[in-house]
Order: sequence, then structure tokens, then C-alpha cells
Amino acid sequence: MIWYPYQQMKTMKQPYKIINAEGVYLYTEDKKLIDSVSSWWSVIHGYKHPELNKALISQVERFSHVMLGGLTHEPVQKLSEKLKSWLPEDLDYCFFSDSGSVAVEVSLKMALQYFTNLGETQRTMVLALEHAYHGDTFKTMEVGDDEDYHFVLKTYGKSKNVIHVPTKIKDLEDAFMKHHDRLNSFIVEPLLQGAGGMRMYDISFLKKARQLCNKYGVLLIFDEVATGFGRTGNRFVADLVQPDILVLGKALTGGYIGHAVTVANQKVYNGFYSDDLTKAFMHGPTFMGNALACSVALKSIEIFEQENYMSKIHRIEEITKREMKGFFDARIKEIRIMGACVCVEVFDSSTLKGYQQFAYARGVFSRPFLNYLYAMVPYIIEEPQLIKVLDTIKQWFND
Ligand SMILES: Cc1ncc(COP(=O)(O)O)c(C=O)c1O
Repeated sequence: MIWYPYQQMKTMKQPYKIINAEGVYLYTEDKKLIDSVSSWWSVIHGYKHPELNKALISQVERFSHVMLGGLTHEPVQKLSEKLKSWLPEDLDYCFFSDSGSVAVEVSLKMALQYFTNLGETQRTMVLALEHAYHGDTFKTMEVGDDEDYHFVLKTYGKSKNVIHVPTKIKDLEDAFMKHHDRLNSFIVEPLLQGAGGMRMYDISFLKKARQLCNKYGVLLIFDEVATGFGRTGNRFVADLVQPDILVLGKALTGGYIGHAVTVANQKVYNGFYSDDLTKAFMHGPTFMGNALACSVALKSIEIFEQENYMSKIHRIEEITKREMKGFFDARIKEIRIMGACVCVEVFDSSTLKGYQQFAYARGVFSRPFLNYLYAMVPYIIEEPQLIKVLDTIKQWFND
């Protein structure tokens, strides 16, 4: 029996059974649905993309997986070279893993060991944002700040190694002033905090964070598992402000296979580079650098570049802003739009009860959570399809 995520199994309604998927569409026995969630924001090219399929099939005919312990292979070499040239500045060193949560764990462990290797063993603390979400494994829950997901941690009491700040410059300055000599890193979902409520904040906060990290020698980590590959209207937020460690996942493989990467800059890498074996990074997920994942990721990046996805994303943002302009309902607290993400936050979560079924009946798959009704569509969506997603949201409030 399947144990489903984030569900009370006793009262859960039956999930929709998907029998096929192509482009922006999911198919059930009786419905064709536009997927407005992109399978948790990962399926940026839509489903069953012919070129991605081809890349996978041709790799599967060679081999699907070999470990990176003592072995290497062309797909992982090519992908890491591509990322090195594609990512800003000296974000050059790719450590692969099998999911976003693990890649975030890797970044936090890397930051901690970086300072241990330098002999600064007092730097055990991590600064993180209020309302942050970085995954569901233990350390990611700890740096996260979301009681709706991670209340189980309460039994441990407050962690003495994690501090949370709001996205306000004054609070950030105060936190650095007070804790800088004990901090190893500051981790953020840059510009757009996803599962914590699609909260958006200004780039000036990240610029200040970069300055403070430089001033106090703290590593800046961008968790771009959700925001990477264009979601915010920037290819990566790391193109605007450069972190020391960048974490990518979800759309890395175009949503085909779970895979992620933690990319370190030269400074971080140098902290491990030594004749001393004890300074090596002791981590190695079984499926890191999986050949199928790397092949499909490489093809996904090629398509992203060749078909100018950034212009598609800007178009999605433009249409969304145009369609949502002037739309208002007294039950709505705020409508937020950034890149290919739109979120309607309501005052009371009961306002969204029944929305999923309402959208299903109209040919849209949606999955609101808490007070947030949102769309993060595949970038290949066409204008009438996007308008349908947005109209369905508006109709819910107007009916
Ligand atoms: C910002 C962020 N980091 C990390 C994760 C965890 O990724 P995964 O579900 O692949 O473990 C997520 C998942 O939603 C995320 O949004």
C-alpha cells in the first residue's frame, strides 16, 4: 500500500490516477488536465518531451548507472563541465546527489566542514530565513521554519545551532552583529520562498547579505532547488548576487528523474583541497551522478538555451500580470507574481476548500496548500492554456 506525502491517510481523498502525460497535460481516465503545478515545479519542458526521451533512451542502451566511487563516465563529466561554464563566475565544483533535500544537507555539511578544515571549529551555527523551506530531512527541517510541515521537531526544543531572521535588512544586520563569529553560513531561498508560502522579497536584501557575509567571512548558500532554471524570471538568482554555494534540483533534469547538485565556488573547494585525507569531503550518495539523470539534465539545459526559455518565462510573467490586473476579492490578502510563479494568498484557508475539485472539473490540475493558491506552470505553456489556468482561479472567487 502506498503511504502518500503530507496526507492524513485516514481521511485523504483518493488521488487522481494519471494514465498518460504529454506537453502541459496530465490525462486521467476521463479528463485532460493542464498541470499548473509542473509536478512540484520541476517539469519545465512539459511531459514526454521527444528530445529528453531520446537522450534517456540512448543512455539507457549504454548503461543506466555506475557509482562515482572509483569510477566516472561521460554524462557526469559533460554535465559538470556544462554547469561550470553555464553558472556564474567561479561556481565550478559540482557535487551531485539524488534529491534537493540531500543537496541542501550537503551544502550545510560542506559549510561546517569548510570551517573545521580551517580550524575555526566554533563556527557551528547557521543563519536561515523565517518561513524557509529547504526539504524534509532532519537538518533541512532544522534550517527550515515551517511549523505546518515540521512540527515534529518541536519535541527536540529549539535548535541552538540555527537562527532565523525575517527578510528585513535591519534584522539581518543585527543577527550578523550578534552571532557572526559563530556562523558558518547563511542559507536562503533567494527572492522567492516556495513551500513557506510563495513569499517574495527584494534583491536589496540579498545584496546586503552578500556584503555582510564578505565582511564577517560567512558562507552564503543559495538554495535554488525551486528558483533555479528561470522560475523567478532570472535564469538563476545567482546571476544577480553570487553565493559561495549554490544548490540546484527539481528542474535540473526537466523533472524526469530525481537529481540535484551542490555547486561550490573556488574558495570553498580550496578549503578541502589538501594532502590531508581528513580534509576530504566525506559524503557519497549511491546514486550521485546517475548517468540517466546527467544525460537528461544535459539535454534539458541545451533545450533551455536553444529555445530561449528566458523569453518564454518573461512572456508567462507578462500574461499573468495582464490577466490578474484589477482582479480583487475581499477574501484575498495578496496576489504575488514573480517570473513564472503566481500566488493568491487568502485570509482564511477554508476559502480554498474544494478548489482542487473545481479546477479538475474545468480541466486544470491545481494543489493549493494552507492559505496559498498558486500556479507554477511548465514554461512551454501556450497563452490560451495559461489564460485558462488563471481564469479558473478568478472564476473560483467570482462564482
Ligand atoms: C527550496 C527547496 N529546497 C529543497 C527542497 C527539497 O527538494 P526535494 O523534494 O527534491 O528533496 C525543496 C522542495 O520543494 C525546495 O522547494
